[in-house]
Amino acid sequence: MTSPPWAMLAELTHACPLHCPYCSNPLELVGRSRELSTEDWTRVMAEAAALGVVHAHLSGGEPLLRADLAAIVTAAEGAGIYTQLVTSGVGLHRSRMDELAGAGLRSVQLSVQDATAGASDLLAGARSFAAKERAALAIRESGLPFGLNVVLHRHNLDSIDEIIALGVAWGAERVELANTQFYGWALRNRGALLPTRDQLRRAEDRVGVWRARLAGQVELIWVVPDYFEGVPKPCMGGWGAVSLTVAPDGAVLPCPGAYALPGLAFPNVRDRALRWIWENSEAFNAYRGTAWMSGPCAGCPRRDVDFGGCRCQAYAITGRPERTDPACSLSPDHHLIRELTDETGPGGEVTVGSDHGDAGIGGKERAAPFA
Ligand code: SF4
Ligand code: FES
Repeated sequence: MTSPPWAMLAELTHACPLHCPYCSNPLELVGRSRELSTEDWTRVMAEAAALGVVHAHLSGGEPLLRADLAAIVTAAEGAGIYTQLVTSGVGLHRSRMDELAGAGLRSVQLSVQDATAGASDLLAGARSFAAKERAALAIRESGLPFGLNVVLHRHNLDSIDEIIALGVAWGAERVELANTQFYGWALRNRGALLPTRDQLRRAEDRVGVWRARLAGQVELIWVVPDYFEGVPKPCMGGWGAVSLTVAPDGAVLPCPGAYALPGLAFPNVRDRALRWIWENSEAFNAYRGTAWMSGPCAGCPRRDVDFGGCRCQAYAITGRPERTDPACSLSPDHHLIRELTDETGPGGEVTVGSDHGDAGIGGKERAAPFA
């Protein structure tokens, strides 16, 4: 019997005013005309709650671009699901914050790209730092739990002190220092984003210093850079184990990166009940549990701890999703990662996510002015 999920990533839209070079959105974005309606999301929340989901991340793209966001929050709250807004902060004015808090929103995760307006706007590909600062104030005034998320890479790791200080100044209770995971646009831009080992070592040391300094005040989360650790991440808590992702068009996936995997058809909430998708669909059962494993994972004592790592990463690097995640030092493909991390080159040109502020299709790429 399949155990139920408890978490859902609700990707409300792929549209976004920013163009971050590490965006984990798929290269093929869902256009706004294909997004689920308010009624669809209301039904999804009810079905998810009945299935066992208790926590939903309302994400994107930029979920604030959904005019019906408060109605979706209300639907989740009515179904008994705790909602966290995951936002760039662009458009999170005081009145919108009040509306969302009134609808039952439980917490907010705000992203920022770097510690200064110039560096942050450069990475975001749009003037947005001032809006983020305003959003931080609005979140703080709402009294909701406030987390700040910063994706780390070669271009901002050396500013780790200033980034943490910014989180403190903005009043975040939790600062998530998330080393880049290489999917979607981040994978395309990997050469320019990969840090050096020295950068990572220095940054991690500084996080240790700040942890001691901020103990009891601000929680610092260091998301491990799995390319550099030799230890794979237990991606999504296991395939089809605890979490599901609903894409803007209603496709349901075991993880947000699964679009790219070959040979899997992802069922849609427009056609199928969420419970059927979770329990019976081929996609959710493809890498569930341990029976699919071969190679070092099949006999490894850690297979119930890390679930063989990440299927999307295995596919991205080896072309075969059923391989052991090459981030694992036991993987026969680990040298493919070592070749990238031992000699992190001088960077490269960055091409960035499509202009997904509107229809979001097509991939209007830009070369970022840093490399
Ligand atoms: Fe995990 Fe597989 Fe590596 Fe063992 S061999 S540590 S199960 S990824
Ligand atoms: Fe898809 Fe890890 S991101 S399994």
